[in-house]
Amino acid sequence: MAAPAKTAALKTAAPKKAAAPAAKKAPANATAPNTGKGAGTNPAVDIQPILNQQNHAPAPTQRFGTVSQRLPIGLDEATRQSSVTMLNQLLADTITLRDMYKKHHWQVVGPTFYQLHLLFDKHYEEQAELVDAIAERIQILGGVAVAMAHDVAELSSIPRVPRDREEAPVQVSRLLDGHQRILKNCHDYAGKADESGDDGTNDLIVSQLVRTNEMQVWFVSEHVVESPLTRAA
Ligand SMILES: [Fe+2]
Repeated sequence: MAAPAKTAALKTAAPKKAAAPAAKKAPANATAPNTGKGAGTNPAVDIQPILNQQNHAPAPTQRFGTVSQRLPIGLDEATRQSSVTMLNQLLADTITLRDMYKKHHWQVVGPTFYQLHLLFDKHYEEQAELVDAIAERIQILGGVAVAMAHDVAELSSIPRVPRDREEAPVQVSRLLDGHQRILKNCHDYAGKADESGDDGTNDLIVSQLVRTNEMQVWFVSEHVVESPLTRAA
């Protein structure tokens, strides 16, 4: 086998190190109690993590709602600001829809349990991919992506979903309403991004968000069509 020979060759090719100086002998009084700082023998290295730095943090790296011009991607500030605002709305709504899918995946009940249980989880995974794509687009544009649940709840346009367990048709109706709110915004925002010259945002919205949401609407909608189970009407 070639691998061991290669490893051996690399070892022999390595330059010879100068002989290490003899280790310093620890002073007789080196057995001081462990105070946490410099717990090793090297006083220049403190291996203790510095905790609770958030309690006395300076100003944040960047404030939410602002855009930086850090990345040279050929877009002016007004375009970036407009796209970031639109994308954060889509992000908050997509995070909410993603989490609604997982809620329904867990809580679904009834004769269609198995297929909806699987379908809801598949859509959850696809929405999770959209969340990441939207958030990373916001960062590329120089913005700050909304992330935490409390901030998402404030920003989302999707009505609050109750904690209670609901019937499958109600779950489906809530999902379809969420999809439609996102899709309406997508159509509006895609046009605005196109007008401002932000092709990347336009492409993300059309190629990923619109396509995925429309496909999911189809798969979910067909579960609330009144149709006979065993005998034609
Ligand atoms: Fe699961």
